[in-house]
Order: sequence, then structure tokens, then C-alpha cells
Amino acid sequence: MRWVSTFRLLVVWALLLVAVGVTDAGSPGSVASAAAAEWSTDGAQRTATISTESAPVYESDGRLKLPGNYREWIFLSSGIDMSYGAAMTGHSMFDNVFVEPTAYREFVRTGRWPDGTSLVLEVRGAAEKGSINKHGKFQSGELMGLEVHVKDTKRFQGDWAFFSFSQGPGAAKMIPTTAECYSCHQQHAAVDTTFVQFYPTLLGIATVKGTLSPAYRAEEGGKKP
Ligand code: HEC
Repeated sequence: MRWVSTFRLLVVWALLLVAVGVTDAGSPGSVASAAAAEWSTDGAQRTATISTESAPVYESDGRLKLPGNYREWIFLSSGIDMSYGAAMTGHSMFDNVFVEPTAYREFVRTGRWPDGTSLVLEVRGAAEKGSINKHGKFQSGELMGLEVHVKDTKRFQGDWAFFSFSQGPGAAKMIPTTAECYSCHQQHAAVDTTFVQFYPTLLGIATVKGTLSPAYRAEEGGKKP
């Protein structure tokens, strides 16, 4: 009996050793490393530059064109009724975040967003009554907001800029840098002004690659006992 359990222990140890062996040496956590491996995309690892096709497109006056196919991009997360400040508006809403695929692959490889990255935040109404649904919420077809976050270091002073397409799909003017959008994203977002702490497939990668912002690390560190 005792021999059997000792043997089992040995097997578990051996498995653990193998697991540790395949993770990055010196990384902060093997779980995070495993997540990084899980979400890496084979064959795309060496794509380092944004293809012109997926780079942001501007009008001659600097307005950004809506990336019309963003629904075919990589889905990062969906939040429901997330609230960052005071009162909610009373509407129940989902937000969906998408990122341009080349930028996603580069993030998986390096934990950083390359120049030319675009992320889209799409806000949709949350509905409760419909079809066979009895409990919980689903996304209604109603589009309530559409915002784009673009990294273009040659064009924007702070490297990134926000655009809102909530008025319609026509080209959008850059939101002025005095807007709250910039300060909240700068002060609280986990990686390079993007809210990677809410994008479950990316947080582990940023942790392993050591690209979490000092502000975010301080915020998180402060929470621990
Ligand atoms: C008080 C904080 C706060 C403010 C102000 C704010 N955001 Fe955000 N933003 C967030 C959070 C949190 C998320 C993550 C959403 C999720 O997880 O679904 C986010 C995500 C986004 C994203 C997805 C890409 C990314 O950067 O992570 C876009 C685009 C975006 N916001 C645009 C805007 C725009 C445009 C404004 C100003 C009109 C704005 N935000 C103001 C907190 C904020």
C-alpha cells in the first residue's frame, strides 16, 4: 500500500518537473505560461508587421475610416453593464471588444501592441425577453456605441488615439486628448493604455512577457495583503 502511494507521488513529481521544464525559465507563473502557450497561434509567430490591408485608414483630413470588417477580427471579451464611475445610465448593455488579427498575433508573440494596432469596442443593448429565453440576458441587435482605439506612433503624440463611430459609420474625427477616455485608459489600463486585465486570453501573456504597466501593477499590488 505504502509503496503504491510513494510510487504515485513520484509519478506526480515527474509530471510536475516536465510541466516546469516546458515553461519559460524564470517566468512569474507556470499557469500564465501555459495560458500563453494555449493561445499562441501556430504559423503566425513570425508575423511582425501590420499588413497595409489591416492598418488604420484615414481620410485626407485625418478622419479615421471605420474598419468595416471588424466583426471578422479576433474577439477579446464581452462585458455586461460594466461601470467605471458614478451612476449607470439605466440601460443594460453588453460591450464586445475586437482586435485586428495581425496585431493580436504580435501581442501573443511579444505581449506588446505593434504600430498600426486597432481595437474596437462595440456596445449593444442587453435584452431579457425573447424567443425561448427564461433567465439571463442576451445581446439585442441594437447597436448603442462603436469606438475605435488606434496605435499610430507617427501620427499621434501620445501614440494612441480614440475615435467614436456612435453617430454612424462615416469617417470619424479623433476625440481630443483632453477627453476622459485618455486619462482613464492611461491611468488604469494594464498594457499600453489598453484594458488587457479584462481580456482573459491576453492577461496571462502580458504577465509572462512582463509588459504590464507600472500603474496597473501598483493597483494590483496594493490589493494584496
Ligand atoms: C473610467 C475609465 C474609462 C473611461 C473614461 C473610458 N474607458 Fe474605454 N475602456 C474602459 C474599460 C474598463 C475597458 C474594457 C472594456 C471591457 O472589458 O469590455 C475599456 C475599453 C475600451 C476600448 C477597447 C480597447 C481598449 O483600449 O482596451 C475602447 C476602444 C474604448 N474603451 C474607448 C473609449 C473611449 C472612446 C472613451 C471616451 C469616450 C473611453 N473608452 C473612456 C475604461 C474607460
